Amino acid sequence: MQWFRRPVLAIAERDAVERFARSSGLTRKLVDRFVAGESLDEALPKVLGLSRLGITSTLDLLGENVSTSEAASAAVATFTTTLRELHALGLEPNISIKLTMLGLDLGDEIAFANTVAILEVAREVGGFVRIDMEGSDYTERTMATFETAHDRFPEEVGIVIQTYLFRARADVERMMERGARVRLVKGAYSEPPSVAYSNTDDTDDNYRRLMRLLLEHGRYPAIATHDPKLIADARAFAEAKGIPPDRYEFQMLYGVRRDAQIDLISTGYRTRVYVPFGIEWYPYFTRRIAERPANALFVLRQFVGG
Ligand code: FDA
Repeated sequence: MQWFRRPVLAIAERDAVERFARSSGLTRKLVDRFVAGESLDEALPKVLGLSRLGITSTLDLLGENVSTSEAASAAVATFTTTLRELHALGLEPNISIKLTMLGLDLGDEIAFANTVAILEVAREVGGFVRIDMEGSDYTERTMATFETAHDRFPEEVGIVIQTYLFRARADVERMMERGARVRLVKGAYSEPPSVAYSNTDDTDDNYRRLMRLLLEHGRYPAIATHDPKLIADARAFAEAKGIPPDRYEFQMLYGVRRDAQIDLISTGYRTRVYVPFGIEWYPYFTRRIAERPANALFVLRQFVGG
């Protein structure tokens, strides 16, 4: 899928395209499908709505690559408020964070200190924090920061592993050894052939292998995919091995394959939706567009049509 993702993400980086996406009413509708609101107050009713269906959430404040420590501190404040508000509403305090939003470009120490500040609040409210995985330039430092944080907060923090990366298997094995909770994803960034499979089938095969490994030997893995073949494989594999459905969960993105979310929950499978909110929605939105030719075509038609 890199053949498709790379050019779409490259075009999306142009200022004119971003200006268009931000101002077009039709594109806005597509943004609203993927993003739960610009503020926590707008996102919380969506989380409550999912909860009424039996679906849990992980809330993500959109934003990445901050360049000042003030911006990183502001993100910490919103994340801790989010944990506390979820707790106060009787919802599971579960959030997803990106280290570049906590200052990773400014240095490992600041990103780590900010992560710890969030994890302390998570511990206070009985919550859980997932560290999202970003582009491969950050993988090594993200893993290292996670592992140090996990030593101190083994119950409160988990990591994401992308199966398009060649290193994924070694990372999964190391995470299983330390008893860390892994969310398995295919990977959403534009990556060079030196580090990642460029072929969809290779990424999917790796996903299947690592998913089975985690289901059998991992600690409460999150199977994060909308791919019907992989979901069916997970269900069949777990059933064949006698792995009960409370030992793992499925995860999907807000606004993607809502039919499959309902199908999973109504057939007794734990399902969590990743609910993003905030004003910095553009990079997240472009990754969702680059995942699916039909989405890209829709935006292109609006662009060409004026
Ligand atoms: P695939 O792309 O093959 O899609 C399977 C089917 O799902 C499609 O045929 C289509 O029906 C539907 N679908 C998928 N994407 C869609 C879209 N955008 N719009 C409409 N339909 C769509 N990545 C990353 O690099 N780091 C991370 O931390 C995370 N975190 C994360 C959390 C959660 C909960 C999920 C579900 C995903 C992520 N991802 C991620 C994104 C992930 O890497 C991947 O890009 C997407 O999940 C799409 O891949 P699928 O596995 O769904 O398969």
